[in-house]
Amino acid sequence: MSLLPLHLLGSPALRQHSAEVKSIDDEIRRLVGDLFETMDAAKGVGLAANQVGITRRVAVVDAEGDRFAMIDPVIVETEGRATAEEGCLSIPDIYGDVTRPERVVMEALDVDGVRYRKEATGLKARAIQHELDHLDGILFLDHLSLLKRQMLLSRWRREHKDDAGYTKEVQAASARSE
Ligand code: NI
Repeated sequence: MSLLPLHLLGSPALRQHSAEVKSIDDEIRRLVGDLFETMDAAKGVGLAANQVGITRRVAVVDAEGDRFAMIDPVIVETEGRATAEEGCLSIPDIYGDVTRPERVVMEALDVDGVRYRKEATGLKARAIQHELDHLDGILFLDHLSLLKRQMLLSRWRREHKDDAGYTKEVQAASARSE
């Protein structure tokens, strides 16, 4: 397994609609392993494949003691509304309150190609929805009011105007970013 560079806001991969996987091979299994390793090193609760520049419908989550890979995930049921602060490994140091369904039921394939179903609430439900959004090219910023989004985006542009590119190396021992 290896640590992969993270794609940051501005990377076209983050705005792409990722392609279905359908059949799981060694390449996809390696990708899942790399996503877990990169998420852990970056101290995230979730990571989608397009955040490392691979536009396939694969994501991993580690929230509330539950750690799982989602391949071709779909949300089949939602209930309620909840608002909480979100951040994103692709938009470091930027946070905003996002309202989403409070409970979801998600179906996906695991690394063995077996379809499974997971019910989640709280942080886990939020992480699942945040990662599924990534697979459709959606960022948490898109859920904010226009005013709030423009404010955060102008701050981002100010702080990143000298960036040479839109990827960031993840260090194996990097400090927690939240
Ligand atoms: Ni994210």
